[in-house]
Amino acid sequence: MKIIKTIVELREHLATFRHPAFVPTMGNLHDGHLALVRQAKPLGDVVVVSIFVNRLQFLPHEDFDTYPRTWEADCQALDAAGCDVVFAPSEKELYPQPQGFTVQPPTDLANMLEGHFRPGFFGGVCTVVMKLFACVQPRVALFGQKDYQQLMVIGRMVEQFALPIQVIGGQTLRAQDGLALSSRNNYLTPGERQEAVQLSMALKTMAQALRQGEANLSALEARAMQTLEARGWNPDYLTVRQRHNLQVPAATEVALMASNAGLVVLGAARIGSTRLIDNLEV
Ligand code: PAJ
Repeated sequence: MKIIKTIVELREHLATFRHPAFVPTMGNLHDGHLALVRQAKPLGDVVVVSIFVNRLQFLPHEDFDTYPRTWEADCQALDAAGCDVVFAPSEKELYPQPQGFTVQPPTDLANMLEGHFRPGFFGGVCTVVMKLFACVQPRVALFGQKDYQQLMVIGRMVEQFALPIQVIGGQTLRAQDGLALSSRNNYLTPGERQEAVQLSMALKTMAQALRQGEANLSALEARAMQTLEARGWNPDYLTVRQRHNLQVPAATEVALMASNAGLVVLGAARIGSTRLIDNLEV
């Protein structure tokens, strides 16, 4: 496995490959990331993984400085998972000047849900992913469904800019109890870790109710929020959306969509000082 830190060297190294498959990450890798790497393996003639903690997608009060950086362990895990190239630029390499040109995703998609609670987040994500795409020039790029809205935003970006890249989603990997794997799970105290599974449980309960014909979405969402609040959580949202555009489904269409695999439930909630997100297709 080759470790590359500059754009020039990356370009040189990749020049002989025709079909790079790319997995962008912020490091602190877990099995969810590694599953994307394994999924990428048969899709390209070289698998490139980037590790870059992207300042542009963090709000000033968020955890950019404390975001876990576990370089040695990440490299070992990537090597074992079949990664061919790790691209790990420094901030100075990727942003030698303040990034004045940025990618601004459309507000209808990027200002709701995560974008509502983390203003500017998707602009930061799109800008870095566009730049990483320019560096790697992949033919295939893989993103986790764990970050459902991110996967959709990137898919739209690639489509609207006519980038010659196939965007592929990877299943969410979960711990045995059902908690979605996430680098931020490392912040949880043992007690919080035990409690953390309740977010996915709440989403499961919502999905089940929808499958059983529940059509009153505001009541369903309110119940889920209250359940978590009563357990000491601070939920941002627990909501039922249409899979294809993340908009609220019309009340008259909920039952039909629930039976036609057209819905997804998404949630974000804080336990202690850790904010977790998860989702479940209905
Ligand atoms: P990061 O949080 O490191 O995630 C990298 C990729 O791993 C993303 O596509 C994410 O959806 C996926 N992933 C995370 N947890 C997962 C899980 N439990 N199962 C499956 N896939 C999972 O997402 C980012 O970094 C950044 O926003 C990035 C796209 C790299 C841009 O900076």
